[in-house]
Amino acid sequence: MLGGMPTAPPNHYLPAGSFQGKNALVTGGGTGLGLEISRGLAALGAHVTIASRSTEHHEGFLAEAEAQGWDADAVVLDVREDPSVRETIDTFCERRGSIDILINNAAGNFVCPAERLSMNAWRSVLGIVLDGTFSCSKYAGRQMIAGDGGVQLNVVATYAWTGMPGVVHSASAKAGVLAMTKTLAAEWARHGIRVNAIAPGPFQSEGAAGNLWPDEKTEERMREAIPAKRFGTAKEMANHALYLCSDAAAYITGECMVIDGGLSLASGRMWEPGERMKRKRGEQKS
Ligand code: HXC
Ligand code: NAP
Repeated sequence: MLGGMPTAPPNHYLPAGSFQGKNALVTGGGTGLGLEISRGLAALGAHVTIASRSTEHHEGFLAEAEAQGWDADAVVLDVREDPSVRETIDTFCERRGSIDILINNAAGNFVCPAERLSMNAWRSVLGIVLDGTFSCSKYAGRQMIAGDGGVQLNVVATYAWTGMPGVVHSASAKAGVLAMTKTLAAEWARHGIRVNAIAPGPFQSEGAAGNLWPDEKTEERMREAIPAKRFGTAKEMANHALYLCSDAAAYITGECMVIDGGLSLASGRMWEPGERMKRKRGEQKS
């Protein structure tokens, strides 16, 4: 046990073959959380296509898939380019017959004081997170409506509703994605489409560590702020992502599952659990 919370579970808990016959597209599926979700889906029987800008980010997953005998491939895609998103999803469906699972995981982020953030930097993050998620959701949604429905899962962050200094672009975009999740869940339920979100707390990925806690001091400050006193792991985030995509969650839609070791509950403390609080003696009344 660490900090009162158990350490990360070693493996996903869904039965073998849970995603057999399903076709899944995972944006940003070659690194960090996206990679862990891609591994889980493929290991549980799905065909998995990962989609992102850099082929370097695809190589590890493709090599692992070959070694494991998973059914997987990769496509170069910038989710900010709406026509490319459309073509990618339409081609995916022509080849595979359907898109059953869409994971909107791609994101961009960095710390910058709001008053110094250029409009290009703002648009860059909004373009990936908000526009990119909508493009993918829309074209996958069309195909799911024309087919047998499906599942969409959006990766957000708890600062979508708590806010967080330094990331106004990402927080604003994730808040939009959260509203999109609930709206599309209600709009598309009649088509057999479920739309959910997960909101991870901080976990170590190259993108997050490199852009958000690039030095030991910042990393330690982040860890200290988490009630569980540890970062999460991509695997524990992925476990819940897989659950929400599975038939075990067939009646769950429009939900956002927070997996953050308590971080979003912890701001503005007057007392540290375990600390002995001394009472300040009041003036004696005469
Ligand atoms: C200020 C910055 C900046 C920085 C880029 N810009 N980095 N401004 N501080 N650190 C500005 C640039 O100067 C430019 O504006 C504009 O942003 C676009 O920059 P490009 O480099 O051309 O953008 P691009 O190549 O499209 O790259 C996108 C990116 C990059 C978002 C900037 O960081 C990226 O590709 N990230 C992907 C991986 C990632 O971020 N993962 C983290 C996920 S973690 P000007 O005005 O100069 O033209 C996460 C949640 C964590 O999302 C939550 C923890 C609790
Ligand atoms: P990551 O490894 O940096 O993942 C980001 C992925 O997005 C990369 O694979 C990247 O691949 C892809 N991507 C970026 N821009 C893209 C674009 N324009 N088009 C297509 N793909 C693009 O970071 P991560 O930490 O695993 O983040 C995964 C998700 O978790 C994100 O939604 C993030 O906001 C969320 N999250 C992370 C944390 C955390 O602490 N790590 C906390 C809360 C939420 P390419 O570079 O190849 O394009």
